[in-house]
Amino acid sequence: MNILVTGGAGYIGSVVVEECLKKGHTTIVLDNLVKGHRNSVHTEAHFVEGELLDGPLLKKIFRENKIEAVIHMAAYSLVGESVLDPAKYYENNVVGGLSLLDAMQNSDVKKIVFSSTAAVYGEPEKQPVEETDRLAPTNPYGETKLAFEHALGWYENAYGLRYASLRYFNAAGASAKCGELHDPETHLIPLVLQAAAGKIPAIDIFGEDYPTRDGTCVRDYIHVVDLARAHILALQILGERSAVYNLGCGGEGYTVNEVVSTACEVTGTEIPKRISARRPGDPAVLIAGSDKIKNELGWEPEFQDLRVIIQSAWDWMNFESEFK
Ligand code: UFG
Repeated sequence: MNILVTGGAGYIGSVVVEECLKKGHTTIVLDNLVKGHRNSVHTEAHFVEGELLDGPLLKKIFRENKIEAVIHMAAYSLVGESVLDPAKYYENNVVGGLSLLDAMQNSDVKKIVFSSTAAVYGEPEKQPVEETDRLAPTNPYGETKLAFEHALGWYENAYGLRYASLRYFNAAGASAKCGELHDPETHLIPLVLQAAAGKIPAIDIFGEDYPTRDGTCVRDYIHVVDLARAHILALQILGERSAVYNLGCGGEGYTVNEVVSTACEVTGTEIPKRISARRPGDPAVLIAGSDKIKNELGWEPEFQDLRVIIQSAWDWMNFESEFK
């Protein structure tokens, strides 16, 4: 299939591109490189630098590449920033997304896989979180992702679009070539590894007074390669139907302190910790109920062990890659 991957130069996008190519899909990447890295785009993918809001460019991409399906990952994704500058998030994540849907409609492309997020649930009422649970985002990032999910539903209803919305929990780890390189970095695992490597003085633990087994927040870490593979599976249903799926490993998850101690073992270092105040908006626990995608698409995470996830991120950090 000819697939357009928006945001294919980003952390998760670049691994999705790898998986698309492995499956023999012709892969076209659109990315404005505001967050993504040109070097992260696989050399076998066709790269276009540009904006979702550039209608004529989108039209040209769809026409020249005979696009048959879209994996839409281009978005801003920092919760804190979204609270301070919601306009930026609505413009890129909603208006930009609608521009993409316009271009799809004009080119009669009916299949889209969308990167959504656990942030659409806000502070969940129960764990694990299931797809049918209450949707109540607590920040503009989650709101903009949910707004686009809703648009997909209405476009299906009116225009026959088929979509798969994948609600990611905590993506982590790296493929052999591509890993996490954000600036600024806000995610726990890369920061813990930066502290292990002495690049930052310590890891700040955002709150030790949560109602969890050790007082720190519990998250459901999913290896980025497992996450990427789910996109390929999701593409397959789009001829017939649409769906929404959570993507996490489930189980008990890991506390922030467990992440730090596992990283100490993996890296063989004593990682300095500093106990800090809670970060506003962090739910105490976020665990995915992922039975739906397992049952319907046969998805199974291969790399569930946190040690394996952290090891892959550490190996990538220490590996001089041409893709960095
Ligand atoms: N944390 C720290 N110290 C840090 C960074 C993070 O203690 O320096 C903690 C956070 O408080 C949180 C956990 O580590 O409890 C994980 O934090 P991340 O920033 O790595 O990830 P989040 O769970 O905040 O974010 C993820 C996705 C978002 C999504 C959100 C939904 O990355 O896109 O889940 O709540 F919006």
